[in-house]
Amino acid sequence: MTKVLVTGCAGFMGSHVVDECLAKGYEVIGLDDLSGGYEENVNSDATFVRGDILDHDLVESLFEQHQFDYVYHLAAYAAEGLSQFIKRYNYNNNLIGSVNLINAAVRHKCKCFVFTSSIAVYGTNQLPMTEDMIPQPEDSYGIAKLSVEQELKVTHEMFGLNYVIFRPHNVYGVRQNISDPFRNVIGIFMRKILEEQPMTVFGDGEQTRAFTCVRDVTPILVSSVEKQEAYQNTFNIGASKPYSVNELAQEVAAALGKELQVEHLPARNEVVHAYADHAKVEKILGYKDTVSLKEGIREMAEWVRTIELKPTKSFTSIEIEEKLPPVWKQYITS
Ligand SMILES: NC(=O)c1ccc[n+]([C@@H]2O[C@H](COP(=O)([O-])OP(=O)(O)OC[C@H]3O[C@@H](n4cnc5c(N)ncnc54)[C@H](O)[C@@H]3O)[C@@H](O)[C@H]2O)c1
Repeated sequence: MTKVLVTGCAGFMGSHVVDECLAKGYEVIGLDDLSGGYEENVNSDATFVRGDILDHDLVESLFEQHQFDYVYHLAAYAAEGLSQFIKRYNYNNNLIGSVNLINAAVRHKCKCFVFTSSIAVYGTNQLPMTEDMIPQPEDSYGIAKLSVEQELKVTHEMFGLNYVIFRPHNVYGVRQNISDPFRNVIGIFMRKILEEQPMTVFGDGEQTRAFTCVRDVTPILVSSVEKQEAYQNTFNIGASKPYSVNELAQEVAAALGKELQVEHLPARNEVVHAYADHAKVEKILGYKDTVSLKEGIREMAEWVRTIELKPTKSFTSIEIEEKLPPVWKQYITS
């Protein structure tokens, strides 16, 4: 039976990847330290291991025990805006943790390593972003993702480890963490509405993103290992139509049946417009952008109404406080 490792299995996208893998009949071992996910997200037909990808002895023992055919590596702390203020944490978790998995995948002759990078690698680039552009990441999160991409490339050249890299963007949907004030704009908006507070928008809200429903993305991630043409390739993946954050706020308020209430905060340092071209993933992996923003947001809103709100996440070890957006200071504990 095909055996797979899914890191970040208790997180948002990782838990959907687990479901897809199980639906294919794979045996699934999921690894997650629950720093950003919840055990209840993990399908009970998978074997859940609570642990840190930085624990290389644990990683090695899992590979030794299971001899995985494929690895889907999704574990990361994906707080792009915060990453500049937690550089060491970001590189440890998102880069060194990935290297531990790559080492083990080489040693145990894994057949393919699937990595979720991000369009954060492009930085402010021409639009739409295409895979052949020279990446120019503008924050530590994007640099860590690009480093892992490059590490996979040189590891393949040296040791033959096959890989597929995805650069998703602004993915949302059922099981997204809505308790982390540092990331996931749709989750932040929904939580604010549920707590009867205005939605907080950085700057004028005219920055644009193409918000992507998770249902469109994870089946392609999972099936990529079956297509040899995908190996050693990098794919943008996600919705094609960009919306402004102001338009998004309107959709979220409407989906939760509330009046639009927005509080504008000082602009932060971020890429203003980001959307990508998906011709390559459509051609090679049959990707289709099927879920409209309205439909996807309504689906997530229905789910959000049914869940118990978890405490808001705080962050203990900020490494640089200079230029930290003031709104985040309330969530920093020392
Ligand atoms: N959601 C998006 O819009 C988006 C866009 C581009 C890329 N990505 C990437 O996709 C992946 C999944 O993102 P998500 O939105 O599902 O985030 P998520 O936070 O919901 O899931 C990540 C999971 O990784 C776990 N994790 C983090 N550090 C870990 C560690 N050191 N050891 C073990 N587990 C650890 C967390 O507990 C969490 O459950 C990430 O790699 C992220 O960078 C996400």
